[in-house]
Amino acid sequence: MQQSARRHVSLSLPVKFRSNVRYLGSLLGLVLREQGGLAFYRREEQIRRMAIRLRSEVPLRLSELFDLVEPLDQATAFQSVRAFGLYFHLVNLAEQQHRLRVIRSAESRVPRHPFPESIAHALHLLRERGVQREALLDLLGQLQVWPVFTAHPTESRPRSVLDHLRRIDSLLARTESLDLRLSERREIEDALREEITLLWQTEEVRPTAPSPLDEARSILDTFLESVYQTAPQLHRDLLAALSTSFPGEESPIRPFLRFSSWTGGDRDGNPNVTPEVTEAALRMHRDLILERYLTEVLEVAERFTQSTERVGVSVELRASLEADAGELPDMVAAVRERHPGEVYRQKLEVMGERLRRARLPSSAPEERVGGYLFPDQFRRDLEVVSQSLDRHQGAILADGLIGDLLLRLKVFGFHLATVEVRQHSSRHTAALAELLEKRGEPGYEAMAEADRQSTLSRWLVQEKALLSPDLELSERTWEVVSTFFSLARMQRELGRDACDSYIISMAAFPSHILEVMLLAKEAGLFRRGPDGKVESDLRVIPIFEQITELRQAGETLNATLELPIYRECVESWGNEQQVMLGYSDSNKDGGFVAANVELFRAHRDLAAVCRRQGVRLLMFHGRGGAIGRGGGNMGKAILSQPPDTLHGRLKSTEQGQIVFQRYGTPDIAHRHLEQVTSALIRASLDPVVGEAQEAAESAWEEVMDALAKESLLAYRELVFETPGFDDFFWQATPVDEIGLLPIASRPMFRSGARSIEQLRAIPWMFAWHQIRCNLPGWYGLGAALTASIRAGQMETLRTMYRKWLFFQSLIDNAQISMGIATLEVTRLYAGLVEDADLSERIMGMIEAEYRRAVEGVLAVTGQERLLDRMPVLQSSIAMRNPYLDPLHCLQVSTLRRWRRGCPLGADEQQEWCNAALTTILHTINAIAAGVQITG
Ligand code: PGA
Repeated sequence: MQQSARRHVSLSLPVKFRSNVRYLGSLLGLVLREQGGLAFYRREEQIRRMAIRLRSEVPLRLSELFDLVEPLDQATAFQSVRAFGLYFHLVNLAEQQHRLRVIRSAESRVPRHPFPESIAHALHLLRERGVQREALLDLLGQLQVWPVFTAHPTESRPRSVLDHLRRIDSLLARTESLDLRLSERREIEDALREEITLLWQTEEVRPTAPSPLDEARSILDTFLESVYQTAPQLHRDLLAALSTSFPGEESPIRPFLRFSSWTGGDRDGNPNVTPEVTEAALRMHRDLILERYLTEVLEVAERFTQSTERVGVSVELRASLEADAGELPDMVAAVRERHPGEVYRQKLEVMGERLRRARLPSSAPEERVGGYLFPDQFRRDLEVVSQSLDRHQGAILADGLIGDLLLRLKVFGFHLATVEVRQHSSRHTAALAELLEKRGEPGYEAMAEADRQSTLSRWLVQEKALLSPDLELSERTWEVVSTFFSLARMQRELGRDACDSYIISMAAFPSHILEVMLLAKEAGLFRRGPDGKVESDLRVIPIFEQITELRQAGETLNATLELPIYRECVESWGNEQQVMLGYSDSNKDGGFVAANVELFRAHRDLAAVCRRQGVRLLMFHGRGGAIGRGGGNMGKAILSQPPDTLHGRLKSTEQGQIVFQRYGTPDIAHRHLEQVTSALIRASLDPVVGEAQEAAESAWEEVMDALAKESLLAYRELVFETPGFDDFFWQATPVDEIGLLPIASRPMFRSGARSIEQLRAIPWMFAWHQIRCNLPGWYGLGAALTASIRAGQMETLRTMYRKWLFFQSLIDNAQISMGIATLEVTRLYAGLVEDADLSERIMGMIEAEYRRAVEGVLAVTGQERLLDRMPVLQSSIAMRNPYLDPLHCLQVSTLRRWRRGCPLGADEQQEWCNAALTTILHTINAIAAGVQITG
């Protein structure tokens, strides 16, 4: 069915997008001819044409293509992989340009209705649907959009490649201008060819794995560049939308963006993240943001040439400059001499000097004198300038240049993004067991949960410390313990916001939370203040990320909140509890449908517990990237959350590999963040959305239950109960080779053992995407829908799809995963499995389940083909497929050779192995670029 569907997909891609793809493709063709020679270029064309023809035929006979590429010598195969990979980088740019073009052109006209998914659009809808201004202001008072950048998997392309892509992107944008002279057009074309040539000649796979600090640097560079620019604009968008749709008395809206990063802080299964690394990451954050402020302040100083002959200056500003003269006499004398009568400029230059001094290392305390130690000092100076402008014909400048700086300071502080620390619960348990044993209380690990809780509570309430200088600790325990001391030190040096969050992976019991509190207490991060109240400098955030733990999440949190000592702790955090939901590991544990259902329920349960307990919940979604990891359309994901759970607040991960895609330029970052904000506002207040978030009938919940159960059974039967499944997975996918790709600072397995259980969720998913099976994004849905349809629930399923956002987004996400899958390609990879019977058996199970899932989805959605409701995506996949097929054939043939081992003598072995592996690693990158998914 999929095959006949495939033939009829017509490319409904916008004309301009297609013509840009063709344009870039033809430039690439020229470069390939120049660089690889005519024979190579002709071979490429032959492969390309055959692949296009094969995709238009039914059935898809990949063996023909495979036979064409298999005999290619190593060097030609490698060049071929690079050529197709480069093509995808260019297509991805053209696609991004297209998105922005649509937005720009819509926003350049006076709108009858604001552009969909913008902040203005959300407020416009709220007004039309009768939401009251007070209710909106109430929500805006709490609004919080909080992206958290995680490292894994890291952006695989080195910075040099990203820089070339950025330049191509801006050249392509210039071609859009209507009034270009012919000579200018030619110049742009030449520049594009130059950039494509440079890309062709640039190393695309990093030579070595990044260190955690490289990861931090690469993420910060990308996001800082764009978000620094766009944060004030988003704030202004909100203010403008408010005054258009809800005019009334002006009311101050506080900045709603906040950022965190896990790079350099996440040590769960990553031995390379040590306390020293976290400290270095924190200092890097501070340095980067101070550098930004410094540049901006000096730029503003250059422009603030207002003369006191023309405009007045406030008494406070003059007094503050006098105070500066007390502390930095030479500096103030110099600026007065350089810019007589230009008081604003004088002040800003002095502020620049204070920022410059703040950046100096703390090891040079004398030179740092006069530097801003904390953001508040900088803020006060900015406010003095702003008020003076305001009162002296400079309101526009106070709002504009200085207003932007003030807003940025509120968003980024001096820490830029909070560095969050994460560790696995078992590491805390083991560390405490050792500490307690050394204190004469053995057997902690063997204790029942209730005993663990009372032991921990006893130590938490007493003043006596568990640690003492004479205790000799194992290295593993010391590492856990010293992290807390390092955090305490860093908070003292850089302020609490720099590192105030501690996340516990695989949390399952209240004791897992108490353990972290006790370790925090040892480092002074948790204590009783002089008034007897608990003061806690570290927010403890559990992650629930497996099916059983998700089912019990509400109960676990409830039991924890019932503990008086913990409750006091939550009060010290402003009565707010953050809880994280882990999408990837729950999917790996229970498959797509069961994980989604349990995550939805857990969210609802946790919200209910917090309501009952009078605690504000901030839900932290560990999702993004591939569909199996909770990726997909973020706006839809937000809208489909359970009702009455968000209250305008959302914390959510942004995984390393999509940072460029979502934050690559200020325009892209702006669009992404406005979509998130708009969806969040609507999900919290739009009555139409509210209705669709709720399962309208309790029968739907029962249907969902049954679907989750069937799907769980089918998934676990395949993955954990089918003999030989492990062998199939290790052999049919390039998972081991993914492990050799230098893209992440951490090992692929959580602990040493090579097993599916210990394999991290990201490489697990990455491997399935490479072979175009995408199993984590749909497997189990077929069995579930078939059983439900057999039980006579077809009409109910159809109504659920039409009316219940959660169910609609579940089905649509699955159909995206299935639409990107091509099981004929997966079959090619199955040929790598040594035991042909095993391979046939497992492929048979996967194909049968896929057929069931396609039939079920088509029946429920009423479509003829998958993705009919998403024609642009459908066409984009159809356009990409013929260029992906040769890459798969090349990957399979090289994998086979590589795994068989070098056929040459000892002398040539090393070179042969390097070349084969390099080709494989490039195929992995190229396929990931083609399907736009890594793990
Ligand atoms: P983890 O990440 O393996 O670091 O928990 C999973 C994910 O980011 O999807």
